[in-house]
Amino acid sequence: MSATKTTMRRFRSQDWFDNPERVDMTALYLERFMNYGITADELRSGRPIIGIAQSGSDINPCNRIHLELAKRVREGIRDAGGIPMEFPLHPTFENCRRPTAAIDRNLAYLGLVEILHGYPLDAVVLTTGCDKSTPAQLMAAATLDLPAIVLSGGPMLDGWFEGELVGSGAAIWKGRRMLAAGQIDEEKFLQIASASAPSAGHCNTMGTASTMNAIAEALGMSLTGCSAIPAPYRERGQIAYETGRRIVAMAIEDLRPSQIMTRDAFLDAITVNAAIGGSTNAQPHIMAMARHAGVEITPEDWMRYGYDVPLLLNMQPAGKYLGERFHRAGGVPAVMWELLQATRLRADRPTVTGRSMAANLEGRATADREMIFAFEQPLKQQAGFLVLKGNLFDFAIMKTSVISADFRQRYLSTPGREGVFECRVVVFEGSDDYHARINDPGLEIDVRTMLVIRGTGPIGWPGSAEVVNMQPPDALIKQGITALPTLGDGRQSGTSDSPSILNASPESAAGGNLAWLRTGDTVRVDLNTGSCNVLISDEELAERKKIAPPPVPPSQTPWQEIYRATVGQLQSGACMELALAYRGVGQDLPRH
Ligand code: FES
Ligand code: MG
Repeated sequence: MSATKTTMRRFRSQDWFDNPERVDMTALYLERFMNYGITADELRSGRPIIGIAQSGSDINPCNRIHLELAKRVREGIRDAGGIPMEFPLHPTFENCRRPTAAIDRNLAYLGLVEILHGYPLDAVVLTTGCDKSTPAQLMAAATLDLPAIVLSGGPMLDGWFEGELVGSGAAIWKGRRMLAAGQIDEEKFLQIASASAPSAGHCNTMGTASTMNAIAEALGMSLTGCSAIPAPYRERGQIAYETGRRIVAMAIEDLRPSQIMTRDAFLDAITVNAAIGGSTNAQPHIMAMARHAGVEITPEDWMRYGYDVPLLLNMQPAGKYLGERFHRAGGVPAVMWELLQATRLRADRPTVTGRSMAANLEGRATADREMIFAFEQPLKQQAGFLVLKGNLFDFAIMKTSVISADFRQRYLSTPGREGVFECRVVVFEGSDDYHARINDPGLEIDVRTMLVIRGTGPIGWPGSAEVVNMQPPDALIKQGITALPTLGDGRQSGTSDSPSILNASPESAAGGNLAWLRTGDTVRVDLNTGSCNVLISDEELAERKKIAPPPVPPSQTPWQEIYRATVGQLQSGACMELALAYRGVGQDLPRH
């Protein structure tokens, strides 16, 4: 289909290429695009120019499939009458970026905001995958408020090793424990790790990548069924094409994130996250996306819409299977269908398809009850994040869907005090300290010990480290104790099965009371009331606060310093706080 000027609205790109008031600038804006073969006529035809935000590269292997998929996106854009322009994003590779990819989320966000604002783009395809690449781009889409659609890269194929499923991240955590217990050697550890990554794509467990892509879909920002299609499947290329076609129509309709990323959409995303056993990183990322969209989400919302939701999806780390089976079972729409029937969703809301979410979900019931459980007969009840607070922090979460029977028996089943436990704490100053001392017998770590880590939040690390799922000392692992209670102001991998108390805010480096906790103190956790307190008096705490908090390591790059100076806490999404004032800037035109 070729569109004509008369059928379309005037696009912002025309202010560059077809602006009668600044004909002097038009030649300059036009000429260099012609050096790779685009004609002036195309650029002046009044058709929308569609950006493809390319997140794939050699140093972002989880998203590298997008280098291929972009070809199909371009064909879809062209067939629908748009003009594609692909550009690179700052990479955000979770596994390899030191000290953590978390500092890159706000940098990729910032870069995309500048590109979408400063170039002649009318709408954008967001190519998502690895953990931070999804929220970074949706945060930018919310800030600009230009038509935007998510194309997930999709998970890797299922990994297999010696006849067993091996999932991303989960294989690493398990392998690490087996290594500590002396059950495998380093060579075997590497073989297991390699087997968990059998193809192009992002993590095949319900880690942060699959979680955030599921959330993008639950928000209504991708085509129906997009997030779970494994990267190498033919449907992935097909949905890339359809996504390209659809964004052109969205540009013409001027269907924008502000119409889709509403409070109802975020509440549904919180509900879906619980039902899929989603990553604990969904908490800061949902907060960041919501705040950039101008939507307020409170800790009470996490409890009201997130906690009392059953686990429906049987996928690692909360369940058994991996991404291929999730896709075959119907993916995110099939989970949402269950929630919709149980009247747990607010699905009468707009999505990128141009239809309501409820309409998108029509006929999407699963046929695989081993993978997607019925709402009335779930895998677990009350599987969402439990929000905690007390005299050590104002906010932290615990992922209840990964509490094992063993952990429940040991810590949460004291007759008459169910859900309450007290532990002597051992405190570590960041992960180097943890690794240096965890096997020190002098620390007297036993089953009644809680491991605490601090200095690992957004400012302290900087970026907030995925380290709270601390492994017990080797000696305990050899006795079969594979998890102790843990607490920290950092995060943990979405693929971890540790029921840690994490994302504690404010962090110690921002003056949180965790800074004054001492090894030997007793901490009481009450899951019934959502409280976590160190058992010392207010006077004692005030006395301790006369001493300076532990120091944080120096910034190693300019961005680390800027990040520390601008970032908020995990409770509120670790946003670049000053950026929140710039919502809707895609409606403004930059100066010539
Ligand atoms: Fe990139 Fe998991 S490390 S998706
Ligand atoms: Mg991670």
